[in-house]
Amino acid sequence: MNTAIIVAAGKGKRFSAKKPKQFLEIAGKPIIIHTLRCFENCSVIDEIILVLPAEEIENFRQLAEKFNLKKLVKIVSGGDTRATSVLNGLNAVNSLKTEIVAVHDGARPLVSNEEITNTIKKAKETGAACLVAPVNDTIKEISGGKIVRTVDRTRLRRALTPQCFRPEILKRAFAEINFNEAVTDECFLVEKLGIEISVVEGSARNIKITHAEDLAIAEIFLDRC
Ligand code: CTP
Ligand code: MG
Repeated sequence: MNTAIIVAAGKGKRFSAKKPKQFLEIAGKPIIIHTLRCFENCSVIDEIILVLPAEEIENFRQLAEKFNLKKLVKIVSGGDTRATSVLNGLNAVNSLKTEIVAVHDGARPLVSNEEITNTIKKAKETGAACLVAPVNDTIKEISGGKIVRTVDRTRLRRALTPQCFRPEILKRAFAEINFNEAVTDECFLVEKLGIEISVVEGSARNIKITHAEDLAIAEIFLDRC
């Protein structure tokens, strides 16, 4: 069995809307519903654990029924940092039954079926797999307002989600590695354990809604689905 943990307990400070960005609507549905539907419709996903702000959990149950989210088995409350939110989701995973756990940002509503399927498949083979995308711009290291050097972008990748692991690996990473608000993905903790993580090439379409302009881009992409 494969379990998705979808984290949607952030405050969306950089977006700075009246409510957290994951509850804003695109194409008539909240962003988080689009994200959940991607996993609901993916045949390799058996169940979904959703992490929400504590005060949203009761309201959300009705929404889950309305949008027929049959794989949504648990809703748990998030923490002050993304890592704590993931840990709360992970604590709700049944490790005995779960072969792979797929951690995904609630704010990424454009993830494709293929991206989810390929990342889970790779994690089954190797234990840990991260969806990535190329870096298209030329990257400069700067210091004191001046360019120090140009970084070789051919070896760089942007970390997307899902990030998929055997549950025992992710549990060990959370137990053994210290984390704080600077930890913005799960691979960071698994890297620190010294465990190799395979990469799976994803699409530039799989954007994370971070700033207000991302909403307009997501609207265009969703329109074409
Ligand atoms: N997240 C979470 N719990 C937190 C922080 C983040 O579940 N304490 C989730 C967000 O809801 C989002 C995902 O992690 O789906 C990616 O985080 P990010 O884009 O940084 O969202 P926010 O933290 O909400 O935004 P910001 O950093 O701008 O405040
Ligand atoms: Mg954040």
